[in-house]
Amino acid sequence: MTIQMRVYVPPHPLIKHWLGVARDAGTPPALFRSAITELGRWLTYEACREWLPVIETIIETPLAPCPATFVNPEVPVVVVPILRAGLALMEGVQPVLPLAAVYHLGMVRDEETLEARCYLNKLPDQIDPQTRVLICEPMLATGGTIMATMAMLTERGVDPGMIRILSVVVASPALQKLSQAYPSLNIYTACIDESLNENGYIVPGLGDAGDRAFAT
Ligand code: URA
Repeated sequence: MTIQMRVYVPPHPLIKHWLGVARDAGTPPALFRSAITELGRWLTYEACREWLPVIETIIETPLAPCPATFVNPEVPVVVVPILRAGLALMEGVQPVLPLAAVYHLGMVRDEETLEARCYLNKLPDQIDPQTRVLICEPMLATGGTIMATMAMLTERGVDPGMIRILSVVVASPALQKLSQAYPSLNIYTACIDESLNENGYIVPGLGDAGDRAFAT
């Protein structure tokens, strides 16, 4: 059986609503940030299915013994926000996964070559292959930044099948690179857009997510 990378676009009215708010050029920065945060929250709920490890046990209610399921605290879960725009998505992840460690990665894209360069790396040297990793990267466009991020994670021991990428808008150049290199990867996004313009921006997309989130 061939494994194929999976891209989920949850058909949820709140995800559609917040995507519309984020796409609208008239949305001011504070509301844009809220929209990205809400998308982070709803996409995290979806991404946790069949990924977040649980334990089954028996507890006592005030009346009787009862089977119960809890998140397994022994299996590490980490969030990797890609600065800058990933911070707004991460704000939505943290209330859902409050115990997850956060490994910040600062990546900047050279606007001429479109190559990614890492300027901040808070990843440990080794990561347990059991670790569940949630990458927050709102825009998957040319794929340069996300491919560099995936390489940094997998060379430290992360199993690509344990990674979920949360994104707001994704485009085919990034998806093609990822699916060729990491067929066991899962992506959760609000939308797949078809094209990129000559500057590597997704069209229709939502513009520069970092600039819009931080009013720069
Ligand atoms: N990064 C962005 O912020 N927007 C795009 O459209 C592509 C990359």
